[in-house]
Amino acid sequence: MIRFPSTALLLGLAGLVVAACGEAPPPTTVADRFTIAEPGPIPVTAQQPGDPAAGYRTLLNRGYVSCGIPYAAFRSSDIFPAGEHRLSGREGRNAELPYMFNSTVNPDGVELVVSNCLTCHASEFGGELVIGLGNPFLDFTGDPAVTAELLGAFVEDGAPAAAWAKWADRIAAIAPYMVTDTVGVNPAPNLTLALIAHRNAETLAWYAEPRLEPPPREPLPTKVPPWWRMQHKAAMFYNGSGRGDHVRYMMMKSLVCTDDIDEAAEIADWFKDVRAYIASLEPPAYPYPVDADLAKEGEPVFARTCAGCHGTHGAERSYPNLLVDLETVGTDPAYARQAVESERFVRWFNRSFYGQGAEAMPALGYVAPPLEAVWATAPYLHNGSVPSLAALLDSTQRPTYWQLRTDPREYDPDTLGWRFDVLESGKEAAESPELAKRVYDTTRHGYGNQGHRFGDALSEQERRALLEYLKTL
Ligand code: HEC
Ligand code: HEC
Repeated sequence: MIRFPSTALLLGLAGLVVAACGEAPPPTTVADRFTIAEPGPIPVTAQQPGDPAAGYRTLLNRGYVSCGIPYAAFRSSDIFPAGEHRLSGREGRNAELPYMFNSTVNPDGVELVVSNCLTCHASEFGGELVIGLGNPFLDFTGDPAVTAELLGAFVEDGAPAAAWAKWADRIAAIAPYMVTDTVGVNPAPNLTLALIAHRNAETLAWYAEPRLEPPPREPLPTKVPPWWRMQHKAAMFYNGSGRGDHVRYMMMKSLVCTDDIDEAAEIADWFKDVRAYIASLEPPAYPYPVDADLAKEGEPVFARTCAGCHGTHGAERSYPNLLVDLETVGTDPAYARQAVESERFVRWFNRSFYGQGAEAMPALGYVAPPLEAVWATAPYLHNGSVPSLAALLDSTQRPTYWQLRTDPREYDPDTLGWRFDVLESGKEAAESPELAKRVYDTTRHGYGNQGHRFGDALSEQERRALLEYLKTL
């Protein structure tokens, strides 16, 4: 595993980057761009056509992440739960695997179990697994390199050992950048940057040592947005940085294992269909009773206070794709700022295979998202810092320290969020490291729950009506 125990080593690494550039200067192309986007409406770009049904099959059956755990070791290890939630359309071996894994065979003929997008992009609601709903209960506080090593003990010599070694090596490289200190927050953006640091933009070849200065160790917290927003969104990601062809961003999980352009091109071809599937997903309907009269009262409140940024919902759907500057929205600025400060990664992306037809464009702002089925997507804001919609609409109700109840998980139809406990103090005061991990501490860097106070000026009755209206979206 690669570790950087000292600044001296880091400086040595910076020298290495310069040396590498000196040997072979990357060609400056039109795509080698770094633009910071201005706030305002994001222009819509045409997307490649694709077949949603074929996209669903790809998502749940194919090896777009092409390295993983040899099947025999996966079976004998018992590290992974047997898994509930059998999904339709799982072919062959896939049908017996937990839903977040696919089966594939590598060029040496080794059958592998590889992770798929549903690890993060599927979650339970009302006992059902909802595809496209981000999972707010995932735990990334453990070191994945330890799990990879443990599995190694179950791998047979020869081709399976070589397959395991490739995967374990990749996990070891990114592990230091994906361990969070809080259960529920997601490190996906940071681990993507760590992968980019190890790859040649032109060929996608993997370097054992990073060639770009890696991202900060501590991942900024993000929550996983629901996929059904994509049918309305011009650009992907909270800061709207995913401009142009969405296929290229959606396939970025392949960065873990894909080492050459031919394989990437094949996955890009499959992902035309995956994009079409994601853009075809409809939001779930609110499963509990709704007070129709109260909801009707909330509609004009929404039109007056919220629609200017979020658009109008229902029959007359309009969505402005508005990138709102940090001062206006006022939410935690760290995530947007880090992207703007990550020029080396943005340039890498725009120059690489992934940037063909796409252009990453960070911004000092966040996009006001479409709000269909927003009641399902607690906790709220890009960093998941506000546990309920009631608290989002009334900033005096936002807890500084809180923790989701997980045993059992229970949805609260009054406040529209997962039930949580308000705590008196932060992680430092927790009785054990295990308990500390469960504490969402909004005083930490990137975890702030400030801003978006657009509901504060409303009356209590208006807020109640607005909450009821949000259930109908
Ligand atoms: C480790 C967790 C994780 C995995 C695995 C993952 N994602 Fe994501 N995904 C995220 C997070 C977190 C974000 C939010 C990042 C942001 O918006 O800045 C995101 C954002 C997205 C978005 C943008 C949504 C929006 O509203 O802008 C799409 C689409 C998406 N992912 C598709 C995929 C696909 C397809 C795969 C599999 C190939 C995948 N993701 C795998 C965590 C994950
Ligand atoms: C000035 C523009 C603006 C106005 C007005 C506005 N919002 Fe937002 N809203 C945003 C932005 C930008 C975000 C994303 C902020 C972030 O994630 O940090 C957001 C996020 C949200 C979210 C979180 C979504 C999620 O899944 O986490 C909800 C819910 C929401 N807004 C509801 C409302 C409601 C209800 C109103 C009216 C009371 C409203 N907003 C008014 C810009 C606005």
